[in-house]
Amino acid sequence: MTRKFEGDRLLVATHNKGKLSEISDIIAPFGVSVVGAAEMDLPEPDETEDTFVGNARIKAHAAAQATGLPALSDDSGITIDALDGAPGVYTADWAETGNGRDFMMAMARANDEINDKGPDAPRTAQFRCTLVIAWPDGHDEVFEGVMPGSLTWPIRGADGFGYDPMFIPEGLDLTCAQMSKDEKNRISHRGRAVTQFIQGCFGG
Ligand code: IMP
Repeated sequence: MTRKFEGDRLLVATHNKGKLSEISDIIAPFGVSVVGAAEMDLPEPDETEDTFVGNARIKAHAAAQATGLPALSDDSGITIDALDGAPGVYTADWAETGNGRDFMMAMARANDEINDKGPDAPRTAQFRCTLVIAWPDGHDEVFEGVMPGSLTWPIRGADGFGYDPMFIPEGLDLTCAQMSKDEKNRISHRGRAVTQFIQGCFGG
Protein backbone atom coordinates (compact mmCIF):
# COMPACT_ATOMS: atom_id res chain seq x y z
CA MET A 1 0.00 0.00 0.00
CA THR A 2 1.53 3.31 -1.11
CA ARG A 3 1.76 5.90 1.66
CA LYS A 4 -0.40 8.96 0.94
CA PHE A 5 0.92 12.52 0.87
CA GLU A 6 -1.08 14.62 3.34
CA GLY A 7 -0.59 18.35 3.08
CA ASP A 8 -0.80 21.21 0.64
CA ARG A 9 2.90 22.04 0.25
CA LEU A 10 5.41 19.70 -1.30
CA LEU A 11 9.16 20.14 -0.94
CA VAL A 12 10.89 19.20 -4.19
CA ALA A 13 14.52 18.42 -3.44
CA THR A 14 16.08 19.80 -6.61
CA HIS A 15 18.12 22.87 -7.50
CA ASN A 16 17.43 22.29 -11.21
CA LYS A 17 15.02 25.00 -12.41
CA GLY A 18 13.90 22.98 -15.45
CA LYS A 19 12.92 19.97 -13.33
CA LEU A 20 11.23 22.16 -10.71
CA SER A 21 9.16 24.04 -13.28
CA GLU A 22 7.99 20.83 -15.02
CA ILE A 23 7.08 19.10 -11.73
CA SER A 24 5.26 22.23 -10.45
CA ASP A 25 3.18 22.48 -13.64
CA ILE A 26 2.06 18.85 -13.48
CA ILE A 27 1.22 18.99 -9.77
CA ALA A 28 -0.54 22.40 -9.84
CA PRO A 29 -4.04 21.02 -10.69
CA PHE A 30 -3.96 18.91 -7.51
CA GLY A 31 -3.99 21.97 -5.26
CA VAL A 32 -0.47 21.40 -3.95
CA SER A 33 2.07 24.21 -4.01
CA VAL A 34 5.65 23.28 -4.68
CA VAL A 35 8.70 24.67 -2.90
CA GLY A 36 12.20 24.04 -4.28
CA ALA A 37 15.46 23.18 -2.51
CA ALA A 38 17.04 26.57 -3.29
CA GLU A 39 14.13 28.42 -1.61
CA MET A 40 14.72 26.32 1.52
CA ASP A 41 18.50 26.87 1.35
CA LEU A 42 19.12 23.14 1.21
CA PRO A 43 22.62 21.92 0.35
CA GLU A 44 23.10 19.67 -2.69
CA PRO A 45 24.21 16.27 -1.37
CA ASP A 46 26.88 14.30 -3.29
CA GLU A 47 25.31 11.77 -5.66
CA THR A 48 27.53 8.81 -4.83
CA GLU A 49 25.36 5.92 -6.10
CA ASP A 50 25.57 4.38 -9.58
CA THR A 51 21.81 4.04 -10.12
CA PHE A 52 19.07 6.64 -10.64
CA VAL A 53 17.09 5.25 -7.71
CA GLY A 54 20.15 5.26 -5.43
CA ASN A 55 20.88 8.93 -6.13
CA ALA A 56 17.20 9.92 -5.94
CA ARG A 57 17.03 8.25 -2.49
CA ILE A 58 20.10 10.21 -1.29
CA LYS A 59 18.52 13.55 -2.32
CA ALA A 60 15.02 12.82 -0.96
CA HIS A 61 16.17 11.47 2.41
CA ALA A 62 18.71 14.28 2.92
CA ALA A 63 16.00 16.90 2.31
CA ALA A 64 13.42 15.13 4.53
CA GLN A 65 15.95 14.88 7.37
CA ALA A 66 17.06 18.51 7.00
CA THR A 67 13.54 19.98 6.97
CA GLY A 68 11.27 17.51 8.79
CA LEU A 69 8.99 17.58 5.70
CA PRO A 70 8.17 14.89 3.14
CA ALA A 71 10.51 15.55 0.19
CA LEU A 72 10.30 14.54 -3.46
CA SER A 73 13.51 14.18 -5.48
CA ASP A 74 14.16 13.58 -9.19
CA ASP A 75 17.17 11.74 -10.55
CA SER A 76 17.11 11.58 -14.30
CA GLY A 77 19.25 11.33 -17.38
CA ILE A 78 19.64 9.99 -20.86
CA THR A 79 20.67 6.48 -21.92
CA ILE A 80 22.08 6.14 -25.45
CA ASP A 81 21.83 2.70 -27.06
CA ALA A 82 24.96 3.04 -29.23
CA LEU A 83 26.95 3.91 -26.08
CA ASP A 84 25.69 0.94 -24.02
CA GLY A 85 23.47 3.21 -21.91
CA ALA A 86 25.98 6.04 -21.29
CA PRO A 87 25.89 8.72 -19.97
CA GLY A 88 23.05 7.38 -17.76
CA VAL A 89 23.52 8.49 -14.15
CA TYR A 90 26.46 10.64 -15.38
CA THR A 91 24.29 12.74 -17.73
CA ALA A 92 24.80 15.97 -15.78
CA ASP A 93 28.54 15.25 -15.38
CA TRP A 94 29.04 15.35 -19.17
CA ALA A 95 28.09 19.04 -18.99
CA GLU A 96 30.45 19.90 -16.12
CA THR A 97 33.16 22.43 -17.02
CA GLY A 98 34.54 23.30 -13.57
CA ASN A 99 32.88 26.67 -14.10
CA GLY A 100 29.19 25.74 -14.41
CA ARG A 101 27.42 23.37 -16.80
CA ASP A 102 27.63 23.57 -20.59
CA PHE A 103 24.93 21.45 -22.26
CA MET A 104 26.04 22.45 -25.75
CA MET A 105 29.33 20.71 -24.97
CA ALA A 106 27.52 17.69 -23.50
CA MET A 107 25.25 17.31 -26.53
CA ALA A 108 28.21 17.63 -28.91
CA ARG A 109 30.00 14.89 -26.98
CA ALA A 110 26.96 12.59 -27.24
CA ASN A 111 26.77 13.23 -31.00
CA ASP A 112 30.55 12.71 -31.49
CA GLU A 113 30.58 9.47 -29.50
CA ILE A 114 27.68 8.05 -31.53
CA ASN A 115 29.42 9.08 -34.80
CA ASP A 116 32.61 7.37 -33.59
CA LYS A 117 30.66 4.08 -33.52
CA GLY A 118 30.27 4.28 -37.31
CA PRO A 119 27.59 5.20 -39.84
CA ASP A 120 25.27 2.34 -38.86
CA ALA A 121 25.24 3.12 -35.14
CA PRO A 122 21.66 3.49 -33.86
CA ARG A 123 20.69 6.99 -32.74
CA THR A 124 18.01 5.73 -30.35
CA ALA A 125 18.03 6.87 -26.73
CA GLN A 126 15.77 7.13 -23.71
CA PHE A 127 15.16 9.87 -21.18
CA ARG A 128 14.67 8.25 -17.75
CA CYS A 129 13.31 9.73 -14.56
CA THR A 130 13.19 8.23 -11.08
CA LEU A 131 11.22 10.08 -8.42
CA VAL A 132 11.55 9.27 -4.73
CA ILE A 133 9.37 10.73 -2.00
CA ALA A 134 10.91 10.31 1.46
CA TRP A 135 9.30 11.07 4.82
CA PRO A 136 11.25 12.20 7.90
CA ASP A 137 10.63 8.78 9.54
CA GLY A 138 12.69 7.11 6.76
CA HIS A 139 9.82 5.66 4.70
CA ASP A 140 10.02 6.18 0.93
CA GLU A 141 8.18 5.42 -2.30
CA VAL A 142 9.70 5.15 -5.80
CA PHE A 143 8.16 6.03 -9.21
CA GLU A 144 9.78 5.70 -12.65
CA GLY A 145 9.11 7.01 -16.16
CA VAL A 146 10.80 6.50 -19.54
CA MET A 147 10.50 8.42 -22.82
CA PRO A 148 11.95 6.62 -25.87
CA GLY A 149 13.25 8.64 -28.81
CA SER A 150 16.28 9.43 -30.96
CA LEU A 151 19.09 11.98 -31.04
CA THR A 152 19.32 14.45 -33.91
CA TRP A 153 22.09 16.78 -35.09
CA PRO A 154 22.25 19.74 -35.49
CA ILE A 155 20.24 20.60 -32.42
CA ARG A 156 16.86 22.34 -32.80
CA GLY A 157 14.74 24.57 -30.57
CA ALA A 158 15.21 27.07 -27.78
CA ASP A 159 12.85 25.86 -25.05
CA GLY A 160 13.35 23.20 -22.40
CA PHE A 161 16.66 22.44 -20.71
CA GLY A 162 19.58 20.01 -20.68
CA TYR A 163 19.63 17.66 -23.70
CA ASP A 164 16.13 18.69 -24.95
CA PRO A 165 17.38 20.32 -28.21
CA MET A 166 18.78 17.02 -29.54
CA PHE A 167 16.03 14.64 -28.37
CA ILE A 168 13.11 13.72 -30.64
CA PRO A 169 10.44 11.63 -28.87
CA GLU A 170 9.45 8.44 -30.70
CA GLY A 171 6.74 9.03 -33.32
CA LEU A 172 7.26 12.82 -33.48
CA ASP A 173 9.33 15.21 -35.63
CA LEU A 174 9.98 17.98 -33.11
CA THR A 175 12.73 18.01 -30.50
CA CYS A 176 11.71 18.50 -26.87
CA ALA A 177 13.10 22.04 -27.12
CA GLN A 178 10.60 22.84 -29.92
CA MET A 179 7.55 21.84 -27.83
CA SER A 180 5.53 23.70 -25.25
CA LYS A 181 6.04 22.58 -21.66
CA ASP A 182 2.55 21.05 -21.67
CA GLU A 183 3.26 19.02 -24.80
CA LYS A 184 6.50 17.73 -23.32
CA ASN A 185 4.94 16.97 -19.91
CA ARG A 186 2.22 14.85 -21.53
CA ILE A 187 4.72 12.37 -22.96
CA SER A 188 7.95 12.83 -21.03
CA HIS A 189 9.78 10.52 -18.63
CA ARG A 190 9.17 13.12 -15.87
CA GLY A 191 5.50 13.56 -16.81
CA ARG A 192 4.99 9.80 -16.62
CA ALA A 193 6.80 9.46 -13.28
CA VAL A 194 4.92 12.43 -11.75
CA THR A 195 1.60 10.99 -12.94
CA GLN A 196 2.42 7.72 -11.17
CA PHE A 197 3.41 9.66 -8.04
CA ILE A 198 0.06 11.47 -8.11
CA GLN A 199 -1.88 8.23 -8.61
CA GLY A 200 0.10 6.50 -5.83
CA CYS A 201 0.31 9.24 -3.21
CA PHE A 202 -2.87 11.26 -3.92
CA GLY A 203 -5.15 8.56 -5.36
CA GLY A 204 -7.90 6.90 -3.35
P1 IMP B 1 20.65 14.78 -12.16
O1 IMP B 1 19.32 14.09 -12.06
O2 IMP B 1 20.76 15.97 -11.29
O3 IMP B 1 21.79 13.80 -11.99
O4 IMP B 1 20.79 15.39 -13.61
C1 IMP B 1 20.11 14.86 -14.69
C2 IMP B 1 20.54 15.54 -15.97
O5 IMP B 1 19.87 14.85 -17.02
C3 IMP B 1 20.08 16.97 -16.07
O6 IMP B 1 21.06 17.87 -15.69
C4 IMP B 1 19.81 17.12 -17.57
O7 IMP B 1 20.97 17.42 -18.25
C5 IMP B 1 19.42 15.73 -18.01
N1 IMP B 1 17.97 15.66 -18.10
C6 IMP B 1 17.10 15.07 -17.23
N2 IMP B 1 15.84 15.26 -17.62
C7 IMP B 1 15.90 16.01 -18.75
C8 IMP B 1 14.91 16.56 -19.60
O8 IMP B 1 13.69 16.43 -19.39
N3 IMP B 1 15.37 17.23 -20.66
C9 IMP B 1 16.70 17.42 -20.91
N4 IMP B 1 17.65 16.97 -20.15
C10 IMP B 1 17.27 16.25 -19.06
